[in-house]
Amino acid sequence: MSAQKKFTNVTVTSLRKMKEAGEKIASLTSYDSSFTRVMNDEGVDIVLVGDSLGMVVQGRQTTIPVTVDNIVYHSKAVRSTCKRPLLMVDMPFMSYHSTDKAIESAMQLMQKGHGQMVKLEGGQTEVKIVRKLSREGVPVCAHIGLQPQLVHKLGGYKVQGRDEQQAREMLDDAHKLQDAGADVMLLECVPSPLAAKITESLEIPVIGIGAGPQCDGQILVLHDILGLTPKAPKFSKDFLLENGTIHKAIRAYVEQVKDGSFPSAEQSFAE
Ligand code: KIV
Repeated sequence: MSAQKKFTNVTVTSLRKMKEAGEKIASLTSYDSSFTRVMNDEGVDIVLVGDSLGMVVQGRQTTIPVTVDNIVYHSKAVRSTCKRPLLMVDMPFMSYHSTDKAIESAMQLMQKGHGQMVKLEGGQTEVKIVRKLSREGVPVCAHIGLQPQLVHKLGGYKVQGRDEQQAREMLDDAHKLQDAGADVMLLECVPSPLAAKITESLEIPVIGIGAGPQCDGQILVLHDILGLTPKAPKFSKDFLLENGTIHKAIRAYVEQVKDGSFPSAEQSFAE
């Protein structure tokens, strides 16, 4: 990586430019200052303080118990060493069930947690909230496909968009969220051909997790790439096992996302 690129801060504008230039966006979750320092130094573009912290840090079964205060606590720690990457923070379960609540939560996450972009799960139902946040100057990442906060409604963590109608609805949702002002789209557990179609048809960058290699970028959960998750998901890979140190593991992840070798078919859903 050139010195210039390494030290230019990542912004909403540079993410768009990366999409236009065909440069892949490498993202990881982080919850503390030490791991974030490594990510900062190894060229990660977006660091997400995800509500996955409920599972990988707090030891809960789902992301549902996570609160805005939890995200703020971890985001403050991440902020201290997150210099170049864009700091994205999750809006936890029920922190955006109304427009007023969403504004209040985003205010906490940005003013106290120092987040630079909020991520929220949901399709059509969230269009009004995305529009309001966007008009108030809050950068938004819309998270569609598998939405872990709906785990009890879905009856488990399953690939989404496999049937034609679901696929059509997902594409339509993606466009409505973009039109409402979303700056980034995140696709979780979506068949690769559908993810490729959504990525190609949107102007905003699309980051995938279990969504195949044709997205504009990738994101994984830190604990999965370090082999700490007892039953790692199919779409992840243990980069520590292959590379020996945490620095090298994170560097290899960034390199493989950038050169398009991660994810391979093995970590993707063909249909
Ligand atoms: O909370 C999280 O870690 C996430 C990723 C799965 C993208 O939302």
